[in-house]
Amino acid sequence: MRGQWGTRLGFILAASGSAVGLGNIWGFPFMAGQSGGGLFVLFYLACVAVIGLPVMIAEIMVGRRAQRSPVGAYGRLSGDKAMWKLVGWMGVAAGVLILSFYSVIAGWTLDYTVLSIRDAFAGRSPGDIEALFAERTGERPGGVIFLHALFMVMVIAIVAGGVEKGLERAVRILMPLLFVLIVGLLIYGTTLEGFGEGARFLFVPDLDEFDAGAALAALGQSMFSLSLGMGAILTYGSYLRRKDDIVATSTTISLLDTFIAVAAGMILFPIVFTYDLGTAGGEGLIFEVLPAFFENMPAGQLVAIVFFALLFFAALTSALSLLEVVTATVIDQLGWRRLTAAAAVGGGIFVLGLPSAHAELLPFWEDLFGMGFQESLVFLIYNVFLPLGGLLISVFAGWVLTRSASYEEFTAGSRLAGLYPGWLILVRFIVPIGILLVFVTTWAEMFFPDLLSSEGANE
Ligand code: PHE
Repeated sequence: MRGQWGTRLGFILAASGSAVGLGNIWGFPFMAGQSGGGLFVLFYLACVAVIGLPVMIAEIMVGRRAQRSPVGAYGRLSGDKAMWKLVGWMGVAAGVLILSFYSVIAGWTLDYTVLSIRDAFAGRSPGDIEALFAERTGERPGGVIFLHALFMVMVIAIVAGGVEKGLERAVRILMPLLFVLIVGLLIYGTTLEGFGEGARFLFVPDLDEFDAGAALAALGQSMFSLSLGMGAILTYGSYLRRKDDIVATSTTISLLDTFIAVAAGMILFPIVFTYDLGTAGGEGLIFEVLPAFFENMPAGQLVAIVFFALLFFAALTSALSLLEVVTATVIDQLGWRRLTAAAAVGGGIFVLGLPSAHAELLPFWEDLFGMGFQESLVFLIYNVFLPLGGLLISVFAGWVLTRSASYEEFTAGSRLAGLYPGWLILVRFIVPIGILLVFVTTWAEMFFPDLLSSEGANE
């Protein structure tokens, strides 16, 4: 007999634990900063509503229907078609790749928690704090690798031991705490001199800045942030009780996740403009910017400690879902014991993560591919794996799953059953076509830059 969540709340907590993580607080602001602000945010919100939400419903539906992790689920519901099982494996591969760099960044949050406890930001100028990040991540590989290892050990222990009960309880307390802290910081942030400029950057789209790459980045970011396109939510859905309402649940999770991402951006950019730090900071953005904010507020040290610790915890609950997908697949497909599976897979992911922790381990990479190892993984996940995974799951739910099956899953326990025809149109047509369109324009722009750019024609 397969395990189940005790309550619908248990599922909501676990799934939002998966969704809310580094993607919201580290990823969203950094992607928005690099992709020109307002236009990216507009695309992002559209992607969540039109693509993310229907895909989340589809994933939970497929997981619950099949009672399996991704590979088994696609196999079972497609009459054992090898092509669909391959899609399941693609999700598992994505989980491995994501966790390998996710763990490194989670290690940074741990480092910054300890730095806050040691009051290491005291007396430093915003410029110094910005420079500190390069020092912490670039000049002490031993420390970064140690924290990466520590984080992976924790994730393995929890996934292997199945202490989900304790975890459910912790999420119940810490998630609302994170939420309250974010709202508090948001309110305090309105007092900053750069607030107006930050808000304008984030919410006023600059149409001259349009480039298709921003659309694909927004699509990838929305999939990443909602934990979609690789089977994490599908796997969690397989533990959901028959009678629970998939539609309302998915809506709740998507709204919560999106609120936290946008709020994180609303906290960050006013700081950037207040201290003149530059919006395109990249992966280090939150670490370079936030400590300066904490330094200049009352009880700032305490706020910094709590913030980075909660961020670490949010990363942990997301990482659990990543390792769970891979572990559940190994258990379902190879019949390994849970402990063996989690330890073997987690150990492998740790090794794969080493070049993300310390780029010098693969010195030729950057010359060969024009970007760092970790950056390449992020690029591949955002631009290929997750959007493609989302496209395929929506085709699967819309066209392969029988209508009676999807209808039954959609309407079980739901007061929103009347939305079924709308959802079906979305997953059958709008989502696949939308994702394809973004793909084609972006790749076209990347490989044939003259084709789409009006500047090219004017020159
Ligand atoms: N959604 C998580 C975050 O925003 C990351 C994640 C992606 C988790 C895919 C599981 C699957 O941090």
